[in-house]
Amino acid sequence: MVSSHGGSVEGSSRLAQALGLRHPIVQGPFGGGLSSVALAAAVSSLGGLGSFGAVNLPAERIGPLVAELRAATDGPFNVNLWVGDHDPGGLAIAPDAYARALEVLAPYFEELGVPLPALPSRFHQPFAEQVEALLAAAPPVFSFVYGVPPAAVLAECRRRHIFTVGTATTLAEAEALDAAGVDAIVATGMEAGGHRVSFIGRAEDNLTGTFALTQLVAPRVSVPVIAAGGICDARGVAAARLLGADAAQIGTAFLACNESGATPAHREKLFSADARETVLTRAFTGRLARGLANRWTRELHRRAPELPPFPIQSWIAGHLKAAAAAAGRTDLVSMWGGQIAPNLVHHTAADLMRALTEGVGADPPATTVVEAR
Ligand SMILES: Cc1cc2nc3c(=O)[nH]c(=O)nc-3n(C[C@H](O)[C@H](O)[C@H](O)COP(=O)(O)O)c2cc1C
Repeated sequence: MVSSHGGSVEGSSRLAQALGLRHPIVQGPFGGGLSSVALAAAVSSLGGLGSFGAVNLPAERIGPLVAELRAATDGPFNVNLWVGDHDPGGLAIAPDAYARALEVLAPYFEELGVPLPALPSRFHQPFAEQVEALLAAAPPVFSFVYGVPPAAVLAECRRRHIFTVGTATTLAEAEALDAAGVDAIVATGMEAGGHRVSFIGRAEDNLTGTFALTQLVAPRVSVPVIAAGGICDARGVAAARLLGADAAQIGTAFLACNESGATPAHREKLFSADARETVLTRAFTGRLARGLANRWTRELHRRAPELPPFPIQSWIAGHLKAAAAAAGRTDLVSMWGGQIAPNLVHHTAADLMRALTEGVGADPPATTVVEAR
């Protein structure tokens, strides 16, 4: 079966061929400390492409991370960074504006018994430093979000045989990535868990779904397209490939696996009835992102305009999240997750990989039995 744009449900995938994968499956990278070497290595060893989100890592930790991944799997793996590492006004903040920003969150700091953090010298790990370390470490695959890396970086990737994967939330972004010469493009729909990684226009105005985006992008770019957002089983993978995608990237379903870096409380939430309500909000980090609705989203989503831009809000909120997570709380911490979460059933990477790969090409089951929650 071949789609009108050359995608093939049971046939070979250009991405799989280029990288030597047994399955056209990418485990989506997770920032915010939620990636793990165990998960990435498990997926890569099972024939997919395992990924590690390194956005929060200082440059000096990237070389050791790549060495650890190399030691943990014989398969290819992907390391992910955020190109656009700050929004306007997000690099520095005047002391009085910082004090005002803290005021909004002060009651939560008090409730969790966390001291208000002093103004730091910087709020994030700069992309320019991280990417230099990444180039030196030369992972097999480098994926990125929030923009197009400088031409010199992409040229260096080619020189070092690092396969590059950009991420688009719109057709215009996909075309910009294609023109820049990336090797593959993730087309990510608004169903996806985590950040809405737009870099042309406001994320709020770029809310195309995975179905539409895949069909828009696949016939108009020269490189393989990886569909992301709302996929959790072989039917979703087959549907994405039928619409022209070359491979599928799965995030939320892998985040829910025991091997991920998510806390047990977060994983439990993803399998609970609370997973039925997800929201896109800037309240956690200053950038638009999808997570499960909880007390934080209910109380702070409307106050997002009062919060500082990314990454300042993310840095401040990080102090609260760490304390909330350590206390096993799920009300004052981001519970990232995508719209497909209520259909999750698998708790290990091996079980999920089986569900994603078995039956691709065969008739999909008429129904997927999901226990009522
Ligand atoms: C907790 C979380 C963190 C994420 N962090 C990143 C990231 O740092 N970089 C990235 O490219 N994608 C990131 N994503 C997106 C995933 O890699 C993947 O594309 C997405 O989750 C697919 O949609 P799904 O959640 O519906 O499966 C993140 C997703 C989640 C749920």
